[in-house]
Amino acid sequence: MTLGDWWRHGVIYQIYPRSFQDSNGDGIGALAGVTRRLDHLNDGTPRSLGVDAIWISPFYPSPQFDFGYDVADYTGVAPEYGTLADFDELIREAHRRGIRVIVDFVPNHTSHRHRWFVESRAGRDSPKRDWYVWRDPGPGGGPPNNWQSTFSRVGSAWTFDPVSEQYYLHSFLPQQPDLEWWNPAVRAAMNDVLRFWLDRGVDGFRIDVAHKMAKDPDLGDNPHDLGVPGARRRDEDWEPEIHEIIREFRRTIDGYEDRMAVGEVFILDPRRMVRYYGEALDELHLAFNFSFLRQPWNARAFREAVELYEDVLPEGAWPDYTLSNHDNPRARSRYDPGDGDPARGQNRARVAMLMLLTLRGTPFLYQGEEIGQADGEVPPERVVDVAGRDPERTPMQWAPGPGAGFTSGEPWLPIGREADEVNVALQQDDPGSMLSFTRRAIWYRKASAALRWGSYRPIEAGAGVFAFARTAEAEGERLVVVLEFEGRDRRLDLAAVLGTADRTAVLELSTRPGRHAGNVDLRALELGADEGIVAKLG
Ligand code: GLC
Repeated sequence: MTLGDWWRHGVIYQIYPRSFQDSNGDGIGALAGVTRRLDHLNDGTPRSLGVDAIWISPFYPSPQFDFGYDVADYTGVAPEYGTLADFDELIREAHRRGIRVIVDFVPNHTSHRHRWFVESRAGRDSPKRDWYVWRDPGPGGGPPNNWQSTFSRVGSAWTFDPVSEQYYLHSFLPQQPDLEWWNPAVRAAMNDVLRFWLDRGVDGFRIDVAHKMAKDPDLGDNPHDLGVPGARRRDEDWEPEIHEIIREFRRTIDGYEDRMAVGEVFILDPRRMVRYYGEALDELHLAFNFSFLRQPWNARAFREAVELYEDVLPEGAWPDYTLSNHDNPRARSRYDPGDGDPARGQNRARVAMLMLLTLRGTPFLYQGEEIGQADGEVPPERVVDVAGRDPERTPMQWAPGPGAGFTSGEPWLPIGREADEVNVALQQDDPGSMLSFTRRAIWYRKASAALRWGSYRPIEAGAGVFAFARTAEAEGERLVVVLEFEGRDRRLDLAAVLGTADRTAVLELSTRPGRHAGNVDLRALELGADEGIVAKLG
């Protein structure tokens, strides 16, 4: 089998460090906790998940107004998460197990406590004044323009500084001032940050809001109605400069061997989003494809999302898929039919996982997804996030008991209600568990040229079913993936739609516990309600 870049054929697992594994009882996860749990992720055997890389959300010093996405020092480790030595140890131990390490890079904004901003704020003549976006008030003393923070609760993207009587720009919280990317000194400093981590051995970066750095230099108002054709936002995605910035990151990264960048390009129009791969594929290695986060539980919706995306991807650009992350409800909860029977939501979570792991593209898993962990319930008095994202950030459920194996202390967010039933310890040795299923699917994928490299072709298998063929011609491997979305048992004639002379296939994987591998009749393929399967043609 041809081995290509690790980020194309591997499975990438997101760690939200605050909620992954505490190591000292303070109720907050730590880097040493991540190191301790590496064997769960990949110990080189199918007893572990078998992921190829981890992406760790920010662990840098931060006042935590946006839980690490407000960085106060780009080249350090927050004391509550550990030390640089802990990070070095984590990289060493991860690499020893063949796990690559991707860190988060937050270039659009810093924390208001970053020394650059503290200096910038000191006065209009500060040498760092032009490292941030400062402007005089608009007519009438209001903000310089109509730009809004991404967080709707914040309102205007401008905050007035009474000392210098100017406003500064923040695309997110007032505690997250935007850097001035028109300033070459800012660009140089941020590329130095990349080099700092590359020199320390990281394998790649997840670039936070990669479309945000370049804005209209004249700070023109955003159009009131973005739905009008030709209406263009002025506070992000400013061409061509945004692409120059990303190309420079790429050049920095390409100065090192075998590294990568995946960008969070939160632009809903997929045609604009894929421009971040670069016209000459000289920008991001991957841009997160968030289309699944918006799909209802509907076979046609997913199929169309895949087709649209395959259609707009530039020649040679590699796809990727994401079901959940720290900013969005988990697939397990999003697709729960809410009929009071947790089994249905769990079955759907397995079908979604199988889809993620069998489509053509790099799968990104979010911590807890492998066990079917649901969003937590966060009572009003424990809400800490400005944008309602606490439920998807509740601690990883490792074991039954009060701290769910995450902490011996009081967790920073409440432990999920299902934690005593849905956790790693209970699923570990249960062959019917979601964890066992996820492991089987990941290890199967590792050994399958069709799943890692093969072509993708959708198959007409009837309403309510999403089916596709994955084929690796050179290796002679032909797979068909069939996913049931409507909760009813079916018998499908796939021989006809596949246009194959094959009558039988071998069932390789099923989301159903207890359904065993073996021959199946392609003309009368049994597919259970809420079941997904992979079958191999002869
Ligand atoms: C990204 C992060 C999100 C953060 C925001 C601002 O969208 O994923 O968590 O709040 O950027 O940095």
